Amino acid sequence: MRIGVLTGGGDCPGLNAAIRAIVRKGIDVYGHAIVGFRDGWKGPLESEYEDLTIESTRGILPRGGTILGTSRTNPFKREDGPAQVKETMAALHLDGLIAIGGEDTLGAAARLNSEHDVAVLGVPKTIDNDLAATDVTFGFDTALQVATEAIDRLHTTAESHHRVMVVEVMGRHAGWIALHSGIAGGADVILIPERPFDIEEVGSLVRRRHARGRAFSIVVVAEGALPKEGTMELAAGEKDEFGHARLGGIGQRLEREIEQRTGFETRATVLGHVQRGGTPTAFDRVLATRVGVAAIDAAHDGNWGTMPALRGTRIELVPLSDAVEELRTVPPEEFEVAAPFMG
Ligand code: F6P
Repeated sequence: MRIGVLTGGGDCPGLNAAIRAIVRKGIDVYGHAIVGFRDGWKGPLESEYEDLTIESTRGILPRGGTILGTSRTNPFKREDGPAQVKETMAALHLDGLIAIGGEDTLGAAARLNSEHDVAVLGVPKTIDNDLAATDVTFGFDTALQVATEAIDRLHTTAESHHRVMVVEVMGRHAGWIALHSGIAGGADVILIPERPFDIEEVGSLVRRRHARGRAFSIVVVAEGALPKEGTMELAAGEKDEFGHARLGGIGQRLEREIEQRTGFETRATVLGHVQRGGTPTAFDRVLATRVGVAAIDAAHDGNWGTMPALRGTRIELVPLSDAVEELRTVPPEEFEVAAPFMG
């Protein structure tokens, strides 16, 4: 068989481990040829590709990012997008395509499969951990580790200066990184997109903590966290090809509000893309390898329109449509775990 592979959307640690797994098992065990498309959906749209070999994928297991490059190109934004993808696949004599991505990349893959009969299957990845049908996505553990380490570091300087430290982490629609790094780092306030916050309440929590003798506080906020309607104005960001606003800015906004409302000196740190870069944790390398191997097995068996997912401790094949139907956001009971530690 000849199988294409692409990585789309925001990069994340573990992508190279997944590519390596697909190439290694695809070539060594099955004797297939693997073609790597450049920069997500841009690759098949503009026929940019390279042959992937055992040699060209050697040594990439611990490397962050993606050797294939990525983009937020949406094939459905171009009128002839789906036809172009099919044409490139036919010209390269591909039997199918493995798309490694998050909600947007896999959403496009699911539509190409169901509406245009393209032989494609998905592999889930995202630091946001917000894909349905899988318990965890690779990339999340590394981002969580980076965020937790940052909180630990901010703790000591917050304590020395008697300041409130606001830490803005990634998470557009889901607060997994904020919640888990907040719990792991002992945050005093955690704000996530799933629960619009009341800035008055944030101020009270910080004041209460200080009244109980603690002269510093840590506030972790997901970039997509929103104030309750009518309580605090936020500037709207630019949009990408999938219609997502460019976020970032809530941390700085909270810095001013908290300082004004409590009178305590406050500083904001935006972790940004540091969370997506660098070496994947062992957990992410193993998970990426497991889903990569399962993806090439599924391609070998012709299981198009599916996605390997982590269910409990097992990797199972699920319909791709299940993964993109809705986002896996933080359920209220998970957030409640952090409640006793607030303020
Ligand atoms: O989708 C992953 C993610 O890291 C989000 O958490 C974040 O909102 C977004 O990507 C940032 O996108 P970009 O790298 O295009 O600025």
